[in-house]
Order: sequence, then structure tokens, then C-alpha cells
Amino acid sequence: MQRQLEPELMDDAEQAAAYAAADFAEANGRFVRLFGELCGGFAGTALDLGCGPGDICLRLARAYPACTVHGLDGAAAMLDYAEAGLARQPELAGRVRFLQGRLPLAHGLADGYDALLSNSLLHHLPDPAVLWQAVRRYGRPGSLVLVMDLFRPPDDAAAQALVRRYAADAPPVLQRDFHNSLCAAFTPDEIAGQLAATGLDHLRVWVVSDRHVAVDGVL
Ligand SMILES: C[S@@+](CC[C@H](N)C(=O)[O-])C[C@H]1O[C@@H](n2cnc3c(N)ncnc32)[C@H](O)[C@@H]1O
Repeated sequence: MQRQLEPELMDDAEQAAAYAAADFAEANGRFVRLFGELCGGFAGTALDLGCGPGDICLRLARAYPACTVHGLDGAAAMLDYAEAGLARQPELAGRVRFLQGRLPLAHGLADGYDALLSNSLLHHLPDPAVLWQAVRRYGRPGSLVLVMDLFRPPDDAAAQALVRRYAADAPPVLQRDFHNSLCAAFTPDEIAGQLAATGLDHLRVWVVSDRHVAVDGVL
């Protein structure tokens, strides 16, 4: 199936509310687990590109008490939920910061983060190079990289089957978003091509579930 773009930013209030209320514990927990396998322990600075409502940033900060996490997103509607989540966990204040910025433009980020992270941003980008260039721009030699996203199924019937399997009880807006995201996602081969085009082909591309692909390694 051909890639079908979906809107880039999730700045619609209803969409952001449904996304922030959804239970992504399994996927977000898997992300933090995979990061743990990559780093062993972590005490540095991490940048989460396209952090949305910030659940992964907060999970990382809880899992690694000596780390600092910056979350960047272009959608104010999403960052409102991220700030609210941080306010509910005041013990993380000072180690987690959320910033608004739409890649490739972003202000207030540091140089040379120790870890470059992103979950489910790639499929939103009309030009996927924007993510890989940001990984290079904000990383340094030795930075850890973990990017996870959906991958595009072979056809619409397969996409609809995944929606039935994993989102049958979700609100209609989330079912629609999940379907659109599957259709907007890249295949593992396409991602490998993107990495080669940005000089990041030493990173590993691997399928981690029936709908998720991960890219990991060290810059
Ligand atoms: C599907 S959400 C994923 C949110 C979060 N990473 C998670 O795993 O729950 C994708 C997020 O990327 C943001 N986004 C899309 N394009 C962006 C860009 N060019 N720069 C920054 N954020 C962007 C959207 O606003 C949205 O919040």
C-alpha cells in the first residue's frame, strides 16, 4: 500500500485529549524497556522528539533518577497534557522540561544530548529526513539512539485488522488516528533507506512487534 500522509501536528483539542487519555502503557513501557536494554543504566541528558503528552519522558525520569529529560513537540495542545502530567509528579520537576517547537525549527534545545529518543513521530513527518537530521543535529558521537514507530502494513485490510485487534474498544477518534497512522507509517526497508541517506546506516532497524519497528544504536 502507498503511504498516505496524515496531519503532521496533533494540535486539535479533541484529538489531543483522546490521545492523552488513551492507555499506551504497553507500548510506552516497551519503549522504556528497550532503552534499558540499550543503555544498561542512564544518568545523562535525553531528548524526546515529538514527545506528545510526555508519558515516555516521565517514565524515563522515574526509571533513571539521575537523568534529565527534555521533551519537544510542535503541538501546544499535547504539551498542555505533558505539563499537567509533570505537575502531578512534582518530584520530577527540575529534571523534566517540555518545549514547544516544530522540527526542523526548535529553540531552547541543548547541544550534544546523551540520548536521542522518539516514539511515533516519524510517521507524522512529510519528510522523514527531518527526524534523522535532528538526531544528528542534537546528538554527539557516543549518543544513544532509540526511535520506535508503527510500520505500514501491506494493505488496508491488514491495517483494519490491526485496528480491530488493538483498538476495538477505543473511542472512534483514536481508532481513526490509529488507522491513519498505520497508513502513514514507513516500512522497515524504507526506514533503512532513510538512515542510509543521512549517514546513519550503522543504526539497527528491527521489527519489535506485529506493528512496531525500532531503530537503535550509538552515534
Ligand atoms: C503520535 S504522537 C506521539 C507522541 C509521543 N511520542 C508518544 O509516544 O505518545 C506524535 C507527536 O509528534 C508531534 N509532531 C509532529 N510533527 C512534529 C514536528 N515537525 N516537530 C515536533 N513535533 C511534531 C505531534 O504534534 C504529536 O504530538
